[in-house]
Amino acid sequence: MVLYMCGIIGCVGNENTLEVLLDGLTALEYRGYDSAGVAVFDNTGKLRMVKDFGRVSKITQEVLEIKSSSCGIGHTRWATHGAVTKENSHPHGSEGLQIVHNGIIENHAHLKKELTDIGYSFKSETDTEVAALLLDYYSKQSESKLEAIGKTVKRLVGSYALGIVFADEPGVIYAVRKDSPLIIGIGEGANYIASDMTALLKYTREHYSLENGDIARITAQDIEIYNTGERITRKKLYADWDRSAAEKGGYPHFMLKEIYESPDAVRSTLRVRIVDMLPDFSADELDEGIFERISRVYIVACGTAMHAGLIGKSRLEAYAKLPASVEIASEFRYNPPMLSSDDLVIVISQSGETADSLAALRLSKQMGAKTLAVVNVVGSSIAKEADFVLYTYAGPEIAVASTKAYSVQSALITLLAVRAGMLRGFIDESFAKTLVCELYIDAPSAIEKMLERADEIKECAEMLCESDDAFFIGRGIDYALACEGSLKLKEISYIHSEAYAAGELKHGTISLITEGVPVIALASVSALYDKMESNIREVASRGAKVILITSDTREYGYTMVRLPEISERVSFLPVACVLQLLAYYTSVMRGCDVDKPRNLAKSVTVE
Ligand code: M6R
Repeated sequence: MVLYMCGIIGCVGNENTLEVLLDGLTALEYRGYDSAGVAVFDNTGKLRMVKDFGRVSKITQEVLEIKSSSCGIGHTRWATHGAVTKENSHPHGSEGLQIVHNGIIENHAHLKKELTDIGYSFKSETDTEVAALLLDYYSKQSESKLEAIGKTVKRLVGSYALGIVFADEPGVIYAVRKDSPLIIGIGEGANYIASDMTALLKYTREHYSLENGDIARITAQDIEIYNTGERITRKKLYADWDRSAAEKGGYPHFMLKEIYESPDAVRSTLRVRIVDMLPDFSADELDEGIFERISRVYIVACGTAMHAGLIGKSRLEAYAKLPASVEIASEFRYNPPMLSSDDLVIVISQSGETADSLAALRLSKQMGAKTLAVVNVVGSSIAKEADFVLYTYAGPEIAVASTKAYSVQSALITLLAVRAGMLRGFIDESFAKTLVCELYIDAPSAIEKMLERADEIKECAEMLCESDDAFFIGRGIDYALACEGSLKLKEISYIHSEAYAAGELKHGTISLITEGVPVIALASVSALYDKMESNIREVASRGAKVILITSDTREYGYTMVRLPEISERVSFLPVACVLQLLAYYTSVMRGCDVDKPRNLAKSVTVE
C-alpha cells in the first residue's frame, strides 16, 4: 500500500547537509504538508532538532544557525494523528534518538499504553512518537542498533517508512520501510534517503528502492541493507527524470497522479476502520448509538463532495433504512430543513474549510442536530467544529479537480452505512462481511483494473474533445455518478456539460440532442439496463455520439467502456475512475490548464 503524504529526506557525508535537507524539504513540498522539521548532528557531534508547523521557510533561519553539519534527517508532515502543531511535527524521539516517519502506525494506542505503564511520557499526539519511544525502549534492551530497530518494527502494525538517527552514533542514518516508499540515494562520499527521487535529483540519480521489511544502515561510504536479519543486496536503479516532472511524482499533472492514488487512498481510509472484515469505528470516538436514535440524515456539502454525498444517501437508505437527503451547502441557510435532535447532519469536505459547508454545519448545531464531519484535512475548521469527525486518508489533494477525495468520501460513507445497518438491525454479520469485502478488497482492485485500461478512455476522450456540449445520463446511482462526471468535465475542459436523470430526457432535454452531440450513458445497475437501453436508442436515433460505460456484457454497437467484474453495490468506484480519466484526457487534448482550471480555487473559503 502506498499513500503519498509526508516527505522524508536524509543525508550523510555531504558537508552541506543543512542545505541538502532544506532543499530536499522544499522539493517535497508538492506532496502537501503542514509542518517541517530536521534532526542534525552539528559540527561538535551533538544531535540538534528544529521543527515547527507551517512552511519550510519558517524553520530555515533556525536550521542555518546550526552553521554546519554532515549528517541529518528531515521531514514534511501532513497531519493524520494529531493537530497541526509544533509538538506534533517530526522529528520525534528522546535524548538518545530522533525519527521521521511516513505512514500510519495502526496499533499506536495499544503501544502507547504499554509505554506509559512503564514510565514513558509523550509530548505529542502522534503515532510516530509512539514508534520513537518504543525504539528508545528497545535500544536500552539490545546489543546493537539494528537489533533494537528489528525488535521495534516487529511490534508495529501499519505502514511506515522511517529515517532514524541515534545521538551516540553521529554519521549514521538508519532507514526502514514497510508499505510506504523509501529510497536510498547513492552519492560520491555521501549517501541519502528520501521518500521519493524528487528530493535527490540535484545530488544523485543512482538509488536503491527499499522493499518491505528492509532495514538499512547508511554512512557516508557504505550502505548495508538487511531483511529478516540477513544482509542482502538490492538492485541499483537510475532515475532519468527531469526535475519538474518529478515534482509530480513522474506524472504530467497532479490530477492524473491523484487519480492513480485513489485505490490506495480508499484502502488507507477503510483499513483503519475494519476489524475481522467488519466495520469498526471505535478508534474514531464516534458515538455509534446515534444511529439507533436518529430518524433522518442530512448530507451537506459542495461540488464533488456533495456528489459523494449522493452515493452516501443511496447507501444509508439501502443498508440502514435511514431516510437521507443531500443538501447543497450554499443553499442550506436559505432553506434549512426543520432540524431537531433526532437528526444527524453529515458535512463532507476535502479541505474542511469550505465556507458554505462550515456555515451549514454551524447552523445545524444551532438548530440542535448532531453533526458528523467527513474531512480529509486534519485539524481543519469543519473537523474541529463538528460533534464527530471521520477523517479520510487520501493524502494531500493538490489538483483543483477533486478525484481521490471523491473516492474516499463515497467509500467511507458506504462503510458507515454498513455499520449503521448493523446497529439498526437490518444487516447481519455475514452480509456485513460480504459488503466490506466488496468495498475494501474488490473495489480498489477494480479501480486499478480500470487504470490499466486508461488508453481505452483516452480514445473516448478523442470523441469528446472537439465538442461544445456534452450530456451525461444515468438512472439511480448512475445519475449521481453522471452529476460528478459532468462537473469534472466542465470544470477542467470548459466543455459545456449537463447531467440528466435518463428518464427526464423526454421531458425537455432531448430537444438539445442533435447530430454529433456526445452523450455519456452510464449503466452499471443490471436492473436498469433495459430502461437505459431505450434512453440510449432515443439519443442515438437523433444522431448523438454515445459512449456507454457499463457492466452489461451484451454488444450494442456503441463505443463502450466495460467495467471490470464487480458487485453492483460498489461499482460506483470504478465508474468514478472512468469519468475522472475521461475529463482528464479531454482537458489535456484541449490544451487546458488541467491542475489549475480558470476561475477556480482548490479551497473555497468565501461564501
Ligand atoms: O474542500 P471541499 O471538499 O469542501 O470542496 C468542495 C468543492 O469546492 C470541491 O469539491 C469542488 O467542487 C471541486 N473542485 C470539484 O472538482
